[in-house]
Amino acid sequence: MTRPGATRPASPALPTSQSLPGELDVLVLGSGVAGLSATVRLASPPETGTSPGGGLRVGVLTKAELWRSATRWAQGGVAAVLGGDEDSTDLHLADTLAAGAGLCDTDAVRILVDEGPFRVHELIAMGAEFDRHPGGALDLAREGGHSTARVVHAGGAATGAEVERALVDATRRTAAAVLEEWFALDLLVEGGRCCGVRALDAGGRVVDVRARHTVLATGGAGQLFAVTTNPAEATADGLAMALRAGVPVADVEFMQFHPTALHHPAMPRPLLSEALRGHGALIRDANGERFVDELAPRDVVSRAMAAKLSSQGVEHLWLDATGLDSFGSRFPTIKASLEAIGLDPHVDWLPIAPAAHHLSGGVVTDLWGETALPGLWAAGEVACTGVHGANRLASNSLLEGMVFGARLAEAIRRGDDGPSATGAMRAVLHGGPDGGDPDGDFGVGVSVRSGGAGRADRTDEVIAIDVEKTVDRLQRAMFDGAGVVRDAGSLQTAATVIGSVATAVGTATPSDRAHGELANLVTAAEALLTSATLRTETRGAHARADFPQTAQRWRRRIVHVDGRVTVSSEVVDSP
Ligand code: SIN
Repeated sequence: MTRPGATRPASPALPTSQSLPGELDVLVLGSGVAGLSATVRLASPPETGTSPGGGLRVGVLTKAELWRSATRWAQGGVAAVLGGDEDSTDLHLADTLAAGAGLCDTDAVRILVDEGPFRVHELIAMGAEFDRHPGGALDLAREGGHSTARVVHAGGAATGAEVERALVDATRRTAAAVLEEWFALDLLVEGGRCCGVRALDAGGRVVDVRARHTVLATGGAGQLFAVTTNPAEATADGLAMALRAGVPVADVEFMQFHPTALHHPAMPRPLLSEALRGHGALIRDANGERFVDELAPRDVVSRAMAAKLSSQGVEHLWLDATGLDSFGSRFPTIKASLEAIGLDPHVDWLPIAPAAHHLSGGVVTDLWGETALPGLWAAGEVACTGVHGANRLASNSLLEGMVFGARLAEAIRRGDDGPSATGAMRAVLHGGPDGGDPDGDFGVGVSVRSGGAGRADRTDEVIAIDVEKTVDRLQRAMFDGAGVVRDAGSLQTAATVIGSVATAVGTATPSDRAHGELANLVTAAEALLTSATLRTETRGAHARADFPQTAQRWRRRIVHVDGRVTVSSEVVDSP
């Protein structure tokens, strides 16, 4: 039996090619806003570029084409204080902390809101074009949880595509290698240091890609759920690699469900941007009544909708955007996707239901993107910097990728090596297994991982399974058991299914991307279910029907490290 891990040998059934010649300075895994923001800063020549470049030899490894990241799907925009007398970074900070429900790291949020405006201006200098008023000022939108309009957007609700376009162009000009259609299998760890990844190349051969620094920027995990707004690529790859290598991961119970995904068989679910509600669209129940403040934070709206769906026994509610002025010119891409399925937002109410959207937790980093494993960095949705806490504020995720992607580039250029006890990393370096659990009743060590079939039962033989059907089974179990509202019974039911999927998947090195993604989904599902079972309270995006109150004693992070689960000491606000 091979323990899944960083040094797992290649399956003898696979052709093994030589390691790539030469070592990269930096290997970036993933091509969304966080990874490419880091890439362009590290790879640009020192004397040119938007900010001083690192002139380093950077490779970007992505499992699809460079442009095909989750970033391109992001609709609403980038939240940043860029104008308007009534706004301030203090207000943006306060809104972010309120949405995060007590688990944000205040220092990380301060950095996010303070550095955000500068990063937006840098992106504009790089060629990104945001929507403007006729006079030239940026057109700022309001979204849920924001106390004022501060969201810059492009093409109405096609912001991610514009951000990605600008960064992909810059990356193609600067990166030393762009490895498209490659799939990272696991981190290479030697002498306690990350030195690259073992990957499948575009031809399916196992290749070691070596680098002095490796950046996880692999995005989210929406494909854990049967109903999601995330593209097919969002299969928790970086999160799973970190878990298998024993790198600390936290806050993974906080999967945010977007309230206004279009209820339609298409997967990913077409998103009806929060900006629609910012412009006055209303949420109505099956009887046409309003029942929730449409501009409350997302967790509040999704929970109210889940309760209504259940009490009215219906599969969807309604978004009424019929009162919006100039829908077509403000939101041309949403209008086009609605028209394609025969809906006219000027006259039709739009069927909506919550869908898995964004993972607030991830691989724990300090305020400069360093993980606990030397040589390994993380930024974007895969990371847990501490900015989102228990629930991300709308349009803070592109911003997080831009700000923390740039910060880790700066830290690598400066020669930082080894994390500091800052940001979410405080939970790991101050208050791990011994620092936490003061009452001794957090159930640390409890794991739903086995669900009746733990790793010890798994085999490293390659077993033929129907990957598509198995993924479908996993996704349904997660949506039913760990959706908007969970309880101990639903989580255990999901864990039992995931346990049997895990046994079927086994531990052999995946022979192709589909098997690799399935293995990653299993690893991430086990971690999410374990954390969600342990957290016996309702907080942010984690709602427990059997523990409906928020408990002060749970103002802590649940951290997975080296196959163990620990509870951090209490999260406290910085002065
Ligand atoms: C939206 O436009 O509603 C999504 C943007 C985000 O997830 O922040």
